[in-house]
Amino acid sequence: MPSDPENELAAVIAGAQELLQWEDALGGTGFPAPKAAPPVRAPLGAGRTESDAEDIVARLEVLSNEAAKCIRCELSRGRTKSVFARGTPGTDLVFVGEGPGFHEDEQGLPFVGRAGQLLDRMIAAMGYARDGVYICNVVKCRPPDNRTPLLTEAAACAHFLVPQLDLVQPKAIVALGRCAAENLGVVPPAGKWRGIWGEWRGIPVMPTYHPAFLLRSPQFKKPVWEDLQEVLRKLNRAPATR
Ligand code: URA
Repeated sequence: MPSDPENELAAVIAGAQELLQWEDALGGTGFPAPKAAPPVRAPLGAGRTESDAEDIVARLEVLSNEAAKCIRCELSRGRTKSVFARGTPGTDLVFVGEGPGFHEDEQGLPFVGRAGQLLDRMIAAMGYARDGVYICNVVKCRPPDNRTPLLTEAAACAHFLVPQLDLVQPKAIVALGRCAAENLGVVPPAGKWRGIWGEWRGIPVMPTYHPAFLLRSPQFKKPVWEDLQEVLRKLNRAPATR
């Protein structure tokens, strides 16, 4: 097929604009901050009624209260607060991280430290309100020195994560970092794991790098943005406009 220089130019400009927008959203300099995304009305999901939605919120609260008293693994000994979730249970998009850090343990909320601020900017760049998505972790209590949760700890906490995701039933999950990807069963036995769609109980899962890793290695922001754009395509949504 003959190439169309006008279309090619338009595609290059669109790609460059998207990248600038992403750099900007992630703290680049020289560009205005993205406009706050409008609040997302939480969809009820296929076949869900208002009363189903209320029931789901109530059941999540029961789980959250149970997690606050849980002594299934050693992590409970060091916790200040358990960290169950933040955001909107009726959303189409869930982010799963590894486990709470210092600030999360103090506040009882996931992703409120520096990595959380970066995650918030990623979410805004995707066109969602900060609390228009649902965010949780593989383990609900802080591992000592922020180490990766042990398999036994993650297995114990699956008691919460599995029903939590089953109740929220998003249309897509983003697994933040290898630990989340492994625990959702989407890491291939060998080779590349980031950016390859997997599935958790029928829900598409996009594994990508953890925001804490991006803080240390910002050169990987671009592939992460590509992964998030894949997610937006899956959800038939467009990134935020400036
Ligand atoms: N890192 C995570 O994986 N989860 C948090 O809640 C905070 C930092």
